[in-house]
Amino acid sequence: MKAEPMLKEDALKGKTIVVTGGGTGLGRSMTKYFLELGANAVICSRKQDVLEKAAEELMQETGGQVLPVACDVRKYNEIEAMLKATLDKFGRVDVLVNNAAGNFVSPTERLSHKAFDVITDIVLKGSYNCTLALGKHWIEQKQEANILNIVTTYAWTGSGYVVPSACAKAGVLAMTRSLASEWAKYGIRSNAIAPGPFPTEGAWTRLFPKQLADKLDPVKRIPVGRFGEHQELANLAAYLVSDYAAFVNGEVVTIDGGEWLYGAGEFNAFDQIPQEMWDAMEKQMRGKQG
Ligand code: HXC
Ligand code: NAP
Repeated sequence: MKAEPMLKEDALKGKTIVVTGGGTGLGRSMTKYFLELGANAVICSRKQDVLEKAAEELMQETGGQVLPVACDVRKYNEIEAMLKATLDKFGRVDVLVNNAAGNFVSPTERLSHKAFDVITDIVLKGSYNCTLALGKHWIEQKQEANILNIVTTYAWTGSGYVVPSACAKAGVLAMTRSLASEWAKYGIRSNAIAPGPFPTEGAWTRLFPKQLADKLDPVKRIPVGRFGEHQELANLAAYLVSDYAAFVNGEVVTIDGGEWLYGAGEFNAFDQIPQEMWDAMEKQMRGKQG
């Protein structure tokens, strides 16, 4: 399948959108679509060289305007500087996409105490820092705006082997819902997307290293039988940050091909049972009932 862009041309025209971690992976793909829909973009992360290359390519690919700003989301002063650079360049900011993250897989008992801080500082504290800095600005300006947080489905199920990430994403989801209530009075919406597996270099190298992928095929856990396409996520993100979604607030939208429900449903693994075995079992069970 090849996903098509979904929204009307110019659906995001005039909006300036900050995407944390916008130079790579899903952040880059969302940014590209926002630009195609007429937005200006600010991409930020720690690596200036990666950001500059991505900005150059995105501008060439879309004809839009991209400002790359090195900014570590763990550091509030760097976020304030990024906000200032955004306002200097574009005069306004309308949307924040909290997409930056850090993660790795490990049995929890093998982690050093520092590992939890490293992940939660990027994911939870980083999302909070950006939200606070831009939120204060919007409230002071009396400006309508919205926030989109990229979480995961294990934000509510939890998951072994990624405990720091699960705790941090659960916190981001709680923040999404809390501020949806608290800041709606200022015209600030707050929503989240929970993606299932979408191939990116950042996630794949850290979460599905080759030795693991050979043993546990992640596609087998997805009822639709494939990974997500970046354009599918970008379509959803563009809708949620656009004015078409003006009445959507406090929602988390799952886009995972049914993966987490498949894992949760008691009997879902029965889809591996062949027809002949069903025939034999049915005969046996009906025989007993009779
Ligand atoms: C165990 C590890 C580890 C590993 C790091 N640590 N890697 N522990 N196993 N593989 C621990 C160490 O204990 C170390 O503490 C501490 O983390 C800091 O490690 P550093 O390498 O010094 O940190 P840093 O250079 O700041 O890098 C941060 C990072 C790195 C998070 C570890 O991976 C990174 O920069 N990630 C950014 C991009 C990313 O992760 N993308 C994937 C997002 S995917 P000690 O005590 O030993 O010094 C995602 C998808 C979810 O979230 C859902 C998928 C379906
Ligand atoms: P990715 O390419 O590794 O993206 C992570 C980004 O975060 C990078 O651009 C990284 O850039 C940035 N970042 C890390 N630490 C930072 C910090 N301290 N300050 C600022 N930026 C920082 O991985 P991805 O797969 O596209 O993930 C994007 C988002 O989707 C994440 O929130 C992830 O949890 C979520 N997600 C992904 C999947 C998937 O299957 N891919 C599934 C569910 C959820 P620098 O290294 O330059 O800082």
